[in-house]
Amino acid sequence: MTSEHADLIKSLDLPAKVRLLTGASAFSLHAEPSIALAAMNFSDGPTGVRGLKFVGGAVTTLFPNATLLASAWDERTAYEVGRMLAEEAMAQRIHVVLGPTINLHRSVLGGRLFEAYSEDPLLTGKLAAAYTRGLQDLAVAACLKHLVANESETERNTMSSVVDEATLRELYLLPFEIAVEEGRAWSIMAAYNDVNGVPATEHEHVINEVVKGEWAYDGLVMSDWFAAKTAADAANAGLDLVMPGPDGPWGDALVAAVRDGAVDESVIDDHLDRLLRLADRVGALGTPRDYPQDLPTPSSHVRREQLTRLAAGGITVLKNDGDVLPLDRSKTLALIGRHAVETIDMGGGSAQVNPPYQVSVAEGLAELLGDKVTVVDGVEVRTRPVPARGGFLSAPSSGDAGIEVTLFDAAGNELERRHAAQSKTMIGMDDDFEGTVATARLCGRVAYTGPVDLGVFGVGDWRVTLGDSMHEFSLRVAGGNFGEEVLTPPYRTDTYMAIEGDIFEATVALEPGPGLFGLIGRVASRETVDVIDDAVRAAAEADVAVVVVGLTEEQETESVDKSTIHLPGAQNALVEAVAGAARRTVVVVNAATPVVMPWLSRVDAVLWAGLPGQEGGHAVAAALLGDIEPAGRLVSTFPSADEKAPAWSVTPVDGELRYDEGTFIGYRGHFAGRAPEPAFWFGHGLGYGRWEYSDVRLVLGDAPSITATVTNKSKRTSREVVQVYLRPVERDEPVRLVGWTAVTVPPGQSARVTVRTDRRLWRKWTDGGWTRIAQGGEFLVARGLGDIRARVS
Ligand code: BGC
Repeated sequence: MTSEHADLIKSLDLPAKVRLLTGASAFSLHAEPSIALAAMNFSDGPTGVRGLKFVGGAVTTLFPNATLLASAWDERTAYEVGRMLAEEAMAQRIHVVLGPTINLHRSVLGGRLFEAYSEDPLLTGKLAAAYTRGLQDLAVAACLKHLVANESETERNTMSSVVDEATLRELYLLPFEIAVEEGRAWSIMAAYNDVNGVPATEHEHVINEVVKGEWAYDGLVMSDWFAAKTAADAANAGLDLVMPGPDGPWGDALVAAVRDGAVDESVIDDHLDRLLRLADRVGALGTPRDYPQDLPTPSSHVRREQLTRLAAGGITVLKNDGDVLPLDRSKTLALIGRHAVETIDMGGGSAQVNPPYQVSVAEGLAELLGDKVTVVDGVEVRTRPVPARGGFLSAPSSGDAGIEVTLFDAAGNELERRHAAQSKTMIGMDDDFEGTVATARLCGRVAYTGPVDLGVFGVGDWRVTLGDSMHEFSLRVAGGNFGEEVLTPPYRTDTYMAIEGDIFEATVALEPGPGLFGLIGRVASRETVDVIDDAVRAAAEADVAVVVVGLTEEQETESVDKSTIHLPGAQNALVEAVAGAARRTVVVVNAATPVVMPWLSRVDAVLWAGLPGQEGGHAVAAALLGDIEPAGRLVSTFPSADEKAPAWSVTPVDGELRYDEGTFIGYRGHFAGRAPEPAFWFGHGLGYGRWEYSDVRLVLGDAPSITATVTNKSKRTSREVVQVYLRPVERDEPVRLVGWTAVTVPPGQSARVTVRTDRRLWRKWTDGGWTRIAQGGEFLVARGLGDIRARVS
């Protein structure tokens, strides 16, 4: 072996080497003091560095979600986010951040799209490379995930994505290729799904041939959590590390496979070499690294500024009739909607973090407008209750917001007492004590007098008491699996007449295995008609009505896909009613992915706000008032209705999800007439400027450039994203984004912009190799393909 770590590897016997190739716990690896290898720590993920606990761990910064960050179409933004994440990681002694998620928005139904940048491979890849550089410049590893063809969640542990080789190469592998080539990513995560019938963790072709072979990738490939199923097959295919640990399919079985000759020991050595290279890069091999002492805390002034700016910069103006936006500060405003008071700042699943605070849109606007704004709660937006929010429940002994959880073993001995600030806790996955939890007691003091919905969630046998009332019942999931028990645990609620100070207590006898448990508490819901009546009254009295609608973590989550892109609950009825009563109506959409807007023609403006992170309310307020320009451009195409998209279904048939649309996803398919005109195109976004394009020229070369002059015809400084698409001559080749450049221009001034096209978009995969697409075709210089400003042949 020629590796730089050959001597270290040689000093270990086979079982000692193999031991290092499976995690030691949920998010940590084994140390090996004999070779000065420290235990490496991993943490999710794309929207904040959550730390070593799945739930309820350290308080950490909640970033705007990936689609919102991507909407800035700005590599510098992605780089800054990477650096910020590295700081968050260093503060927690985390070596590897499990992000970015660079799967594509194939079907808008994908539950996890909020974690992933866009429907376009170039935009995704370029942003991923910049984010990776931002992290790794501070010696914290990025982890590109999930390799590959992992665009939806239905049957996610067993389904096979059926994708032809050209589509795989030109579309789904391309972001990984760019992030390896330009970002030099140090780790990659192999997905849960199969690709063409072969588990992604055992995919010799993808891992060994393409990634490690053709791309000469020298980093580490780890499994997604619990995804690895075999020893010899996975190890031989190029998987380097099984996560999590300490158990898993490798260990003794892999040692035996080497001794039987099914796996060559050089394969083990290569895996270990890559693991040591990663350790070396992140300062976990040899002399321990020094960490800076003065890193910003999650609620520091510097984070507040960064997070507000990053979120507001991605917010996208979809419609703005009569320049109702930015809002006039002298006008009165009715702010309406559940999302205005309980703004959704993150999606569900492993990308969740435990933020220090979350600013709602109501709070953000009230800070800037004071009593000019009247806030009215909206209609119900969920079908499943969530853990008690804010201070609705508090721990009886300390009075701190959240609940108190006491864990007992089978003999009734107390193992641990913990405070769960978010009224939920994970048990049995990443606990810090010896012993097995048999029962848990969850307890909270109610801060409200009146009718309340109280309840519990989690798998087990429950006994629930409030005052004199007591219920016993069991909660189970059919064919229970880790995803459901943790991400969509079963629940039960009942309505009580509470008196402030009442103690709500629930005890659960647990099933074996990890699970998520918590208490639900909220004011009992009101009738929809009463809610809408209140909203209409407030809207009629104000100068402008702002309705905040959106999705919740029920739709935008790991482990579950959507079945529709309609807003949940009676939100459309709420908007219609408000638009009918208000002088001007502005709708803010608080969701990461497309929704249908049946009321679009009846409202004046629509602002798409993504999942804006802990500073969300400040960012939305800054965007609405124009303190920061919402200069975002869409990262996915908004279909006009359910099913009106080139790729829709995410439900496998007989275990297979066929990517039959090939490379024609999103705008590529709409443009080719494979789906009707969308409501909004990928790349659309009005900002607060008004632009004129002139003198568009083509500069020829191996990968040609386009130059154009853009003039800001508005009365304020604005940022324009000049997008160049290529429409090939070949009919079976889709239109595609080949480059973009952003520029900020003062009012009345012009800028000359050069957009370099990316040579990787000129290739096509045919007969087992790359060729160049046919010469000719047309460049479209556009603000999204619905607003083409110039065509150059
Ligand atoms: C997700 C990964 C994540 C891992 C660890 C899995 O369920 O698919 O993206 O990094 O859990 O939390």
